[in-house]
Amino acid sequence: MIQGLDPKKIPAHVAIIMDGNGRWAKARHLPRIMGHREGMKSVRAVVEAARKVGVKVLTLYAFSKENWQRPKEEVSFLMKLLSEYLQKEVDELHEKDVQIRAIGEIELLPRQVLELLDKAIKKTKNNQGLILNLALSYGGRAEIARAARLIAEACLKGDLKPQEIDEELFGRFLYTADLPDPDLLIRTSGEKRISNFLLYQCAYTEFYFTPTLWPDFREKEFIEALKDYQARERRFGKISEQVHE
Ligand code: IPE
Ligand code: IPE
Ligand code: MG
Repeated sequence: MIQGLDPKKIPAHVAIIMDGNGRWAKARHLPRIMGHREGMKSVRAVVEAARKVGVKVLTLYAFSKENWQRPKEEVSFLMKLLSEYLQKEVDELHEKDVQIRAIGEIELLPRQVLELLDKAIKKTKNNQGLILNLALSYGGRAEIARAARLIAEACLKGDLKPQEIDEELFGRFLYTADLPDPDLLIRTSGEKRISNFLLYQCAYTEFYFTPTLWPDFREKEFIEALKDYQARERRFGKISEQVHE
């Protein structure tokens, strides 16, 4: 037992909508960016906690496609924070066997950020520990439309037949192609919405909403979310008796 958790029921894939940085700062009469800075400490804490308890994939919604519409100073600051993270943390993550990946329209990121990201991905690509999957410039509908486009192109080229398209094949054209679907989706800050995150992949994901703001969400709160998840019964459309067979 790790901190009261059942080691046999650790979710393989946890996805997190890290929300509430701005409100955390506002409550302290600080500029919004201070909330983002404090939120980075939660990223560190949660990555470490996920690794320790044996989560295999941690997907963090760090920047949505829609977030490009924020004031340009805030967008620049978020990009700066991301660069800092990639510069300061990658060596340690690499030592801890963490594999860094990214999903989303990352080609839209500033060139310097993209270079750091590419470097981090290449450096850690053979690591076998936690997969830290960063959703950057990510939008779920855009991802689905992109998959449809790629599939249409493959059909036109004659590499694929329309009758071969099923749920499983479609999934292979998403950014998350070789990852399991999220078992647990956590959203902080009290909002109860999905905000265009992993729309296709969350078909049977368990949702956990907490009023805690992201900068206050650390190891203890993460373990709480896992405990809540472990107490649930996932039926996938079946009845309880079948699940216990
Ligand atoms: C989440 O915190 C961080 C990002 C979306 C990048 P917010 O910045 O959305 O914080 P609130 O929701 O305004 O409190
Ligand atoms: C979702 O948070 C995106 C990230 C956490 C990166 P937002 O704060 O952008 O979501 P909405 O706009 O409140 O739905
Ligand atoms: Mg928000």
